[in-house]
Amino acid sequence: MKILVTGGAGYIGSHVLRALTRAGFDPVALDDMSFGVSKRLGDTPLVQMDLASAGAKNELVRIFKDQEITGVIHLAARKSVAESVAQPEYYYQQNVGAMLNLLAAMQEAGVMNLVFSSSAATYGAPAEAKVSEDYVCQPINPYGETKLIGEWMVANAVKAWGLNGVCLRYFNVAGAGYDDLGDTSVANLIPIAIHAYKNKTPVQVFGTDWPTPDGSCVRDYIHVADLAEAHISALNYLKEKNREELVFNVGTGKGSSVLEVLAALSQVVGEEVQVNHANRRPGDPAALSADVAKIASVLGWQAKHNLLEIVESAYRASLN
Ligand code: WQD
Repeated sequence: MKILVTGGAGYIGSHVLRALTRAGFDPVALDDMSFGVSKRLGDTPLVQMDLASAGAKNELVRIFKDQEITGVIHLAARKSVAESVAQPEYYYQQNVGAMLNLLAAMQEAGVMNLVFSSSAATYGAPAEAKVSEDYVCQPINPYGETKLIGEWMVANAVKAWGLNGVCLRYFNVAGAGYDDLGDTSVANLIPIAIHAYKNKTPVQVFGTDWPTPDGSCVRDYIHVADLAEAHISALNYLKEKNREELVFNVGTGKGSSVLEVLAALSQVVGEEVQVNHANRRPGDPAALSADVAKIASVLGWQAKHNLLEIVESAYRASLN
């Protein structure tokens, strides 16, 4: 089965490419290379294009036909929460626009299988510390809104023209499955903490007075290699008849606090990482982790790696 992976040259996309190859699929990457890194692709062929550009739909139809693509894993998106607040139109144009072109092209070319990369950002700041997929989605920034709209678009295509679709709501993705595929952006807690440690500066802990066991925020950190495997499970699920589920949380089900993450990093590097207790960051929920009962029972998937393995692999890849 030939699978187009949009965002294939990204941190997560490149892990998905390798998981697909290992599972016997034949991946093709699509990426606009704005943040993609070509050496992550190895031998995987690359189509370079911006899915949200004018003309993208027709070009996609041609690619689907020429390359005999049978399914798409759609990861390509702008993903900075702060940038989405500052430039909402750009986020709607990029993330929703890309989805429009993609679905229209899939319908026209008869490509019927789609795994969509969604996010825990669709939940917003829920009152519950652990959320299942039927918890109400109230995103609190344009980024999260574009992901929720993407899910609605998938749901409607499923109803209207019989698309086989699944949406995966990623929680806090981190770590590296291979030393050459580390997260090179310094945008999330674990890469930020590693970067600060290497520069001998303290890591800012955003709030130590949260209503959590140690006062710091709790999140569900999921190893990127486990996440990549969830896409294989999702593709296999699409082959099943009588599917009823559209959306799955992808996490470990276990929350870890910021201080626990930093303790894991101290353990990995063999010395105490410097910490600075800072103010709360606006918009942060105190605790957010995934209820993973559905993905375990329906897709038969569960995370294999723990927090220490996530931090250890991220640190090792950062030395590469
Ligand atoms: C994790 C925890 C911070 C940096 C974001 C997006 C979400 C998803 C994943 C894509 C929080 C704390 C952080 C620092 C800190 N993205 N922190 N010091 O906010 O949970 O989720 O990325 O889909 O949509 O919102 O991730 O890595 O920014 O923060 O104390 O220097 O670490 O407060 O509790 P977040 P994050």
